[in-house]
Amino acid sequence: MAEVNVNLDAHSYTIHITTGGISRVGELMSKLSLGNKILIVTDDNVCPLYAATLSGSLVAAGFKPTVLAVTPGESSKSLTTANTVFTEAIASGLDRKSAIIALGGGVVGDLAGFVAASYLRGVPFIQVPTTLLAQVDSSVGGKTAVNHELGKNLIGAFYQPRMVAIDPQVLDTLNDRELKAGLAEVVKYGVIADSDFFTYLQDNASALLARDPVVLTHVIGKCCQIKANIVAQDERESSLRMILNFGHTIGHAIEAEGGYSEYNHGEGVAIGMHAAALISQHAGLCEQSQVTALKKLLNRLDLPLTAPGYHPKELVRYLVRDKKVLNGKVNWVLMSQIGHVEITHEITEDTIAAVLEQVT
Ligand code: GLY
Repeated sequence: MAEVNVNLDAHSYTIHITTGGISRVGELMSKLSLGNKILIVTDDNVCPLYAATLSGSLVAAGFKPTVLAVTPGESSKSLTTANTVFTEAIASGLDRKSAIIALGGGVVGDLAGFVAASYLRGVPFIQVPTTLLAQVDSSVGGKTAVNHELGKNLIGAFYQPRMVAIDPQVLDTLNDRELKAGLAEVVKYGVIADSDFFTYLQDNASALLARDPVVLTHVIGKCCQIKANIVAQDERESSLRMILNFGHTIGHAIEAEGGYSEYNHGEGVAIGMHAAALISQHAGLCEQSQVTALKKLLNRLDLPLTAPGYHPKELVRYLVRDKKVLNGKVNWVLMSQIGHVEITHEITEDTIAAVLEQVT
């Protein structure tokens, strides 16, 4: 079993990465001094696949789990669904030592984490992510939130899980589109922090698409390690953690303009990374060869580079609303070369307009 520690003083925790790990969650949780009542929050897609295995492992370790499955999809990241989870927690008699487990992708993780952060002013939270995107990104680092009708992730808290249990085997049931969405975030880690890892991804692109279990497990561990290092230095995103948003500013705009249905998060991030690389080049921060290397890898992973038919003017409207805006200026995460990024707000509107033309 691989283990990655997220070092945050009193809020430190371990990410356990192991094939077949879902059936070991009860055993791992029995070391965390928790109460015996547990609420598993999942969705209607994941529930029939993995809830019984997870519940079985909890029962075997002496816990009393209840399962609540919500409707799959972004619409469940709402105060209305959070209230359904609160009601289930109260009805099941969860107390301050009772844990809430998120069994699912990013939506379930963000929703269950938000409830865990606020129910009884905070109860233990465990992440069991079942998508690649959740395994390499959203389950680690303690960002929890629900959406508001005026914007995504606007209501939430930084609330670290007590443990993350990643079972790479569950990716066998993930559809190709979701797998590739996760790979976009994987590429991001190479660009922001580790050129050797980027080279590894170039060398193993076919194996990743073929779901080679050894390669996927290595990649998940590497991404968790990179993210853990960043979060340990800047838990609340006051500076360094912003680099995890590489590709996300224009990526979010594209997701939003498509009504969150045309492009999923990873696809938005792929286009957004391409745009961020082009902005970097326009601004004289990086060589064209670096942009070309990123484009080639995204292409090999069958990820989109452009959003044809989208209008730059419409996309610009979303940029100023982005959570990364401070004092009215967008904080751009740009690359100087693969493996190194920097944060700047000194980018002209003309540069943004020119690049948006190139990616639409
Ligand atoms: N997904 C970016 C972060 O966790 O900061």
